[in-house]
Amino acid sequence: MVLVGFTLQPEREYCGLLEPLLVEDADYFEVTPETTWVRDGDELFRPNGFWRLFRELGERTGKPFIAHGVGLSLGTFAEDGARLARCLEAIRMSQEAFRFLWYTDHLGATVLDGRAVTIPVPLPMTSEAAAAVRDRLGALQEIVPDVGFENSAFYYLLGKPLEEPAFFGRILERPRTHLLLDLHNLFTNAVNLGFDAEAWLERLDLTRVIEIHVSGGSASEPEWLPSRRVMRLDSHDAPVPEEVWRLLERTAPRCPNLRGVTLERMEGTVGEGDVPLLREELARVRRTVG
Ligand SMILES: [Fe+2]
Repeated sequence: MVLVGFTLQPEREYCGLLEPLLVEDADYFEVTPETTWVRDGDELFRPNGFWRLFRELGERTGKPFIAHGVGLSLGTFAEDGARLARCLEAIRMSQEAFRFLWYTDHLGATVLDGRAVTIPVPLPMTSEAAAAVRDRLGALQEIVPDVGFENSAFYYLLGKPLEEPAFFGRILERPRTHLLLDLHNLFTNAVNLGFDAEAWLERLDLTRVIEIHVSGGSASEPEWLPSRRVMRLDSHDAPVPEEVWRLLERTAPRCPNLRGVTLERMEGTVGEGDVPLLREELARVRRTVG
């Protein structure tokens, strides 16, 4: 059976409004471990209030957690051993507490030259980059046996979009390394970079997909770019578009190792009026993959 999950965000209003959905409609909770840590003065990490809030929800409902991190920086080539060691130690501490079923991070670099960048930077689709990501996944695998990466939403690429699936295949050589297939990221890239999402999926090894993400997004403001071009944003702030539902309907049955489909939503974008819609979206995911 494919499980249906929902994202926990570090916002008390969000968790309060969505409590009935989380307790009654979700099979598991997705946590970004970094949102449950604070950095201590001595460079160690310690749990924050959301660590306690999320764990309490897990204990009360008996539902499992999966991890979707942002800070491992799977695509960092350069030496950042000290930072990586601290990050892995915090992940180890989180794994002991949350018992994640699997752990994914975003494909790309989120740390460059020792500095954190806001969103993942795309990687060159080379064997060196594939090896760097494989190494990081290998380090993560010493803590959580099933690990993987998510296809990111990028606003430019270093290479051709239809070459991405083959690049993913070169990364996922080892057993128990998986792809988190984010269909809204794929849709966003297809719109912004001008390619056919179905053709991209035809090239992808769907046997490696452990999880699928669905979500919505919105459009950028014309004033943001000198050209006034409007881009689709991976902003998780709106209903799942019909194009993404169609991708889910066609793709999920072709993923033999799919374990979960997660509906993602960003904190600060949920009001009381959105809760019934989100419950219906979770029900639609269940009808689609159940
Ligand atoms: Fe995602």
